[in-house]
Amino acid sequence: MAIFNNKKNGAEERLPENLPQHIGFIMDGNGRWAKKRGLPRTFGHTEGAKTFRKIVRYCKDIGIPYISFYAFSTENWKRPKDEVNAIMNLFREYIIDVRNYLSENTRMIFLGDISELDEDLQQKIRDLEYDTKDYKEMTLMMAVNYGGRAEIANATRQIAQKVKDGELEISDINENTVNDFLYTHEAPDVDLIIRPSGELRLSNFLIWQSAYAEYYFTDVLWPDFTPKELDKALIEFSKRGRRFGGV
Ligand code: FPP
Repeated sequence: MAIFNNKKNGAEERLPENLPQHIGFIMDGNGRWAKKRGLPRTFGHTEGAKTFRKIVRYCKDIGIPYISFYAFSTENWKRPKDEVNAIMNLFREYIIDVRNYLSENTRMIFLGDISELDEDLQQKIRDLEYDTKDYKEMTLMMAVNYGGRAEIANATRQIAQKVKDGELEISDINENTVNDFLYTHEAPDVDLIIRPSGELRLSNFLIWQSAYAEYYFTDVLWPDFTPKELDKALIEFSKRGRRFGGV
């Protein structure tokens, strides 16, 4: 896939020619960041949410059109209740705040099964998605109660229903059909996945969409991740020879 260049605000001089169109961030290391300081884990998430805001703004400044953040996985419900509540409250704050700090032109999409969230949060999410649906400059995707396998299973159920209803022939099902039923169906495949905190795993994030992604790992913990760190990842990305199966 050709990567289009829409750099702006000084990124033209500072950053390489080929920037990714879609970056996925696994926001890992919040708990360790807090532990190192003798603070409760929830403090780490609060700091992580601040980093999130800085990185979103920076991506917008340099003209990255699609960004995805792994904020809460289908497995994260197993965490202590107070930690889960603290993260949910950060989502609430974010949804209220986001209208102020990211001015128009950013579309917000949530990836995952939001039907398991509190009703007030579901409503806020639906409103935000609706109110931003026509914005085109950047698309920000927030994965909440998200798992890549659950996403593919969900797509499969919907495709099976279409076949059952006579709206789709089995022989017509191809990769594009599956893609059309993913939460990310309006975005291009992810080009670059960034995971801080020294873990070298995908952890069920965008597993279909990352088939040809490049990976960037760093020991920096997510609350310490800065636009400078992102620049390093972008420079590294630009040096990788992406062949998509060709030669
Ligand atoms: C992983 O770090 C982080 C999470 C499971 C939660 C991420 C959530 C946020 C950054 C806040 C979300 C809110 C907004 C508004 C973006 P970890 O807790 O597993 O860290 P550890 O591996 O060091 O324990």
